[in-house]
Amino acid sequence: MVKKLWGTRFPKKTGVLTDKFTSSIAYDQRLAKYDILGSIAHARMLGKEKIIPAKDARKIIQGLSTILDDLKKGKFKYNPAAEDIHSNIQELLVKKIGSAADKLHTARSRNDQIALDIRMYMKEEIGETVDLLVMLQKAILKLAADNLKVLIPGYTHLQKAQCVLLAHHLLAYVEALERDKERIIDAGKRIDQMPLGSCALSGTGLPIDRKSVMQELKFKKLTANSIDSVSDRDFIIELLADLSIMAMHLSRIAEDLILWSTREFNFIDIDFSFCTGSSIMPHKKNPDVLELIRGSVGKVQGDFSSVLVMMKGLPLSYNRDLQLDKPPLFDAIDTVENILEIFIALFANIVVEKEAVAVKVQDESLFSVDIVEYLIKKGVSYRDAHDIVGKMVKDCLDRGKKISALSDQALKKYSPKLGADVKKILNPLASVMLKKSYGGTSPVLVKRQLENWRKILNA
Ligand code: ARG
Repeated sequence: MVKKLWGTRFPKKTGVLTDKFTSSIAYDQRLAKYDILGSIAHARMLGKEKIIPAKDARKIIQGLSTILDDLKKGKFKYNPAAEDIHSNIQELLVKKIGSAADKLHTARSRNDQIALDIRMYMKEEIGETVDLLVMLQKAILKLAADNLKVLIPGYTHLQKAQCVLLAHHLLAYVEALERDKERIIDAGKRIDQMPLGSCALSGTGLPIDRKSVMQELKFKKLTANSIDSVSDRDFIIELLADLSIMAMHLSRIAEDLILWSTREFNFIDIDFSFCTGSSIMPHKKNPDVLELIRGSVGKVQGDFSSVLVMMKGLPLSYNRDLQLDKPPLFDAIDTVENILEIFIALFANIVVEKEAVAVKVQDESLFSVDIVEYLIKKGVSYRDAHDIVGKMVKDCLDRGKKISALSDQALKKYSPKLGADVKKILNPLASVMLKKSYGGTSPVLVKRQLENWRKILNA
């Protein structure tokens, strides 16, 4: 039985059901490290400002440091009967140093304490997620660089559209992941604000020094309004929104790879170590890792919506509802980090089916826009050029003929501007080489982009 931090005012004990229902120790125990570090900084400040005797502050700091050591050694004693991680640590401290521990909670409330713990945890996790994102970008970049000459059919509406460099497609992933990185780094600015000292909601009459706590805990700013400090969970919602977008990107990448690894596409091979088989169909090699990545996104988006909806209509300031922000926050961060980790490994083992893919781009319908642009360059209007090529493609499809097999005369029937030289652009390399507009798929530009990314990611 843990002594309740608020027990004295209660004429009777809380019910067993209530204890079970209100407890958060099962999940907030993972905030132990931040809770201890926050308490050490708080105690140091209380001592320095002579709010508590210096020797008590020293004792508290020593006690907390040994608890931190225990935690690092995996010897931290969780008490499943504790209401939350704050009570758990307070109880351990009392056991270690006796009554001096009772002075730690001076000028502090669990309301500002939990806000601090979550912010510290999130700052650390953002750093880790950014590192993982960079590693994934690098793995994708390597696949692009190793296959710089490979051309694939690009798709719109999941219908073959135009020829592109595989590297160009892969760099599209790197772009999206860069935006994801920027978004969470930006969210980090709003997370990096120190709430301790807001107490329950109104601040305190004791002469605390919030700035020194902020500095010790390496925060950039102080929260500026004590009511907002304990009410605000925007920073969680914001990160969850960013993670939802990131997860959506990861699911789209997974989906591309799933398609590409089918026998129907056969652009790539996913290493066996990332696949599973079927218990009934002996021939199967299923891309389960990628499917689970795709599927996990629903969880992250659910986490986002769970916190957003929980916050809707809550009166200021702190309400116990806020305790429920943690399971979805932890789940979203864990899920995204797990996805990134396995994705990095999976990308490093992708083999591009170069020969099979070379056959796929021998499809002249991929060059229809190139013929349209050929005509435009010869003075034909866009509309007419589109009609001309439209007719030509239709006839060829109907008769199962290739455009390149049309005689010079037959070409002229579609347009007098169609010379035999048009056949020179009816090949994949010529097609991509034409796409020289900034951001286009021409090999020169893609190579330049690749080098640019290499510089950015290695900086
Ligand atoms: N466990 C709570 C939370 O996660 C913090 C404790 C605040 N409790 C309270 N009764 N004011 O938000």
